Amino acid sequence: MVQIDKLFTEIDPKEGEFSFDENVARVFDDMISRSIPLYTDVQRSVPVLAGLLDHDPIRVVDLGCSTGTSLIHLVNALPDRKFEITGIDNSAAMLEKCREKIAATRRHSKQPELMEQIKVEQADVRSFEFSEASIVLMNYTLQFVEVESRKKVLRRICDSIRPGGFLLVSEKVIHAQPEMDDALVEMYFEFKRRQGYSDLEISRKRDALENVLVPLTVDGNQCLFREAGFGNVEVLLKWFNFATFVCRP
Ligand SMILES: C[S@@+](CC[C@H](N)C(=O)[O-])C[C@H]1O[C@@H](n2cnc3c(N)ncnc32)[C@H](O)[C@@H]1O
Repeated sequence: MVQIDKLFTEIDPKEGEFSFDENVARVFDDMISRSIPLYTDVQRSVPVLAGLLDHDPIRVVDLGCSTGTSLIHLVNALPDRKFEITGIDNSAAMLEKCREKIAATRRHSKQPELMEQIKVEQADVRSFEFSEASIVLMNYTLQFVEVESRKKVLRRICDSIRPGGFLLVSEKVIHAQPEMDDALVEMYFEFKRRQGYSDLEISRKRDALENVLVPLTVDGNQCLFREAGFGNVEVLLKWFNFATFVCRP
């Protein structure tokens, strides 16, 4: 059962003390769906793009898979396609929830065998050994990797992508002009208030994420993807301070 995210009414972490621990894992599905605009639309785009590939099987790696929402949605949306899926995350707490969710989906599914296509493992994206992939998903995870390591990780991802395949990457983004950036932040806070978060919860979470989640501009991300070897970089979706890119080698 999805638990409502009231985490930041209960705790007041110090600046920069956000982590994907048991407390976050417990409420994560509610937290992410109420904190990331168009989150469901990004999830829905994955099977649409995957369905265009003629790879058999479709090999998917989800970097920062959290509770496995993207992967469960993907195999359920394309039940006639064959997948080999690896979800990786460096948080044991998040992976425990992920395994529980896959098991619960299997129990309630008319096609429980679909879930057998998903394997998850605890690993760090900075040291993960990439093997050939049709699709690499990296939704809202690169932003947690220190900026100086990002290009190296992206280069290794790029080298692993099979012909025709792609990286789908979503990030929180900033605006280069301070006044525009302030406007984007205000629009985002407005979104969070509409999702039922109080000003106290919003400001506590913002402080906790300081220097933990480090966003770049849209241009900064696009340069990084190109420098890492991606020849074709497109903005698939943009909502004020969130963007999803499709990158092809
Ligand atoms: C915001 S969540 C990702 C959400 C998920 N992709 C989705 O669409 O539902 C970020 C995830 O990345 C994981 N993470 C952060 N840094 C990581 C790293 N260096 N290696 C592996 N996982 C990492 C966190 O544990 C967390 O589960």
